[in-house]
Amino acid sequence: MPVQPSIYPSGAWIHGKTSLHCSNQIILTRYVWIIADWVDVSMVYLQRLLALLVGCVGGFSNTVDSSNVCDVQDALDKGIAEIASMPPLVFAGECRTLQDRLAAAARGEAFIVQGGDCAESFDQFNANRIRDLYRLILQMSLVVMYGGGVPVVKIGRLAGQFAKPRSADLEKKGDVELPSYRGDIINGPEFTSDARVPDPQRLVKAYHQSASTLNLVRGFSTGGYAALDRVADWNLDFMSNSDEGEAYLDLAKRVKEALVFVKACGAQELSALFNETEFFVSHECLLLDYESALTRVDSTTGLYYGCSGHFLWCGERTRQLDNAHVEYLKGIGNPIGVKVSDKMDPSELVALIAALNPENTPGRLAVIVRMGAAKLRENFPRLIQAVQEAGQVVTWVCDPMHGNTESCNGYKTRRYDNVKAEVEAFFDVHQEMGSIPGGVHLEMTGDDVTECIGGGSSVSETDLDSRYHTHCDPRLNAEQALEMSFYVASRLRERRKHD
Ligand code: PEP
Ligand code: CO
Repeated sequence: MPVQPSIYPSGAWIHGKTSLHCSNQIILTRYVWIIADWVDVSMVYLQRLLALLVGCVGGFSNTVDSSNVCDVQDALDKGIAEIASMPPLVFAGECRTLQDRLAAAARGEAFIVQGGDCAESFDQFNANRIRDLYRLILQMSLVVMYGGGVPVVKIGRLAGQFAKPRSADLEKKGDVELPSYRGDIINGPEFTSDARVPDPQRLVKAYHQSASTLNLVRGFSTGGYAALDRVADWNLDFMSNSDEGEAYLDLAKRVKEALVFVKACGAQELSALFNETEFFVSHECLLLDYESALTRVDSTTGLYYGCSGHFLWCGERTRQLDNAHVEYLKGIGNPIGVKVSDKMDPSELVALIAALNPENTPGRLAVIVRMGAAKLRENFPRLIQAVQEAGQVVTWVCDPMHGNTESCNGYKTRRYDNVKAEVEAFFDVHQEMGSIPGGVHLEMTGDDVTECIGGGSSVSETDLDSRYHTHCDPRLNAEQALEMSFYVASRLRERRKHD
C-alpha cells in the first residue's frame, strides 16, 4: 500500500494552483496552461518552460495579442473546473487490483502486455478502432498465456493517451516555423498557426472521449465479448494468408480444445474466469492540469489517486528527480511507471525509485526501459545490478519502440527487426542477470497500417505512404504485433524450462 508522503498537505493536488508572475506575461499566459499548476513545484521545470516560450516567440509573435490573454486564461480555468466537477474515470480499487497484478509480474508469475497508439486522436475516434485494438491485445494475450504459461496483465495505452512530449519545440517546413504539435488534448496536428494554438476546450473533449472509450472497454470486458472461446474464434482479415495468422488459428484451435477439456472436468463454476477479463488503461502523466483536475481522494484509504487512468507513467523527458511530474507521481496511490533510456545512470535510477516507491511496495513501480538493442545490452545490466544491490522491487518492462525510431522517405518509422532485437536483448539480459522480464510496452494498432517496416507483413520502405495514419510515432500493425506476441511467448516458454 503506498504511503501518502506527508509533505503534501490535504488538498494540495487539487487546490494548489498558484499564479505565475513574469515580466513576459503575455507569452507565458498563452502557453503556461499546459503545466500551470506545477511551475511552483519545480524551478527546473520552470526554467525549461521559459526556454520553450522564448523559443516560440519568433514564430508566434504576430499571433500573440494581449486582448486575447484573459480569454485564454479564462477558458483554461473553465475547462479545468469542468473536468474537476466530472466523475473520476477509474476507481482506486481497480488501481489496487492492477498493482497486485504488477507485483505478480515482478515475481515472474504474470506478464504485462501494454499497447496502443502513440497518441490517441479526436478525428480517428470510433468504436471499431477501439474494438480492434482491444481485440488485438486479447489475442496477443492468448498467445502469451498459452505459449508462456503465465496470466497476462492487459493494459491499453488508451482512454487518456493524448498529450505528447516533444524533443523539438518548433516544427519547420520550408521557411515556415510553428510550435510543435503536442497531442490533441493541447493543439491540432495540422501545420497551420491556428491549429497549433493551445485550446483549453480540448482538455474537456479528451476527458469525454476517454470516458466513452472506457465505457466500451468495460462493456467488452464483462459483457461476454472477451469470453475465452470467442477470443479463440476471432479472426483478423490477414489471418488466412499470413504465417502469423495461421499460427494464431492453430493455437486458437488448441485453446478451444483445452477449454472443452476443463469444462468437461467441471470447471463451469469458474465461468467468470472464462467469460470476463480484466483490462486496464494507461497513459503518460504529462499534462498536469488534466491530471490535477482528476486527482481524487479515495474514501476507503484516504489516499489521493490519479483517476484519469489506472496506470500512469512518467516519460523519459520529464523524469528528473526535481521535476514537477515526479512530484505529482510521488503523491498518488496508483501503480506508476517511469521510462528509462540509456541516458539514465545507475545511481540516478536507484534514487528515483526510492523517491517514487519509498516503501518498496511490489507492483507500485514499473521501470520501462527503452534504449535500442545495442545500448540495452551495454547499459541495462548496470541498472539491474544497482537496483538489485539496493534491494528495490520493480517490475521491468521493455518498450522496444522509442529507442528505434528512424526516418525513411520523409516518414518517421521503425524496423520490425530492430524492435524485435530489443525485446530479444531484454530477455537475454534478464537471463544473464537472474532478474525477471515483467512485460512489453508497444505502440501498436488493430488497424492494417503501414508505419513500421518489415515483419511477416513485409511492409517495405516504399509502402510507408500507403496507410500511414499515426498522429505521432509509427505503430506496429496488427500482424506485426501478433508476430511479436509469438516471439514473447517463445521466450517465456524458454524461461519456464530453465526454472
Ligand atoms: C511515448 O511513450 O510515446 C514516449 C514519448 O515515450 P518516451 O517518454 O519513452 O520517449
Ligand atoms: Co511514442
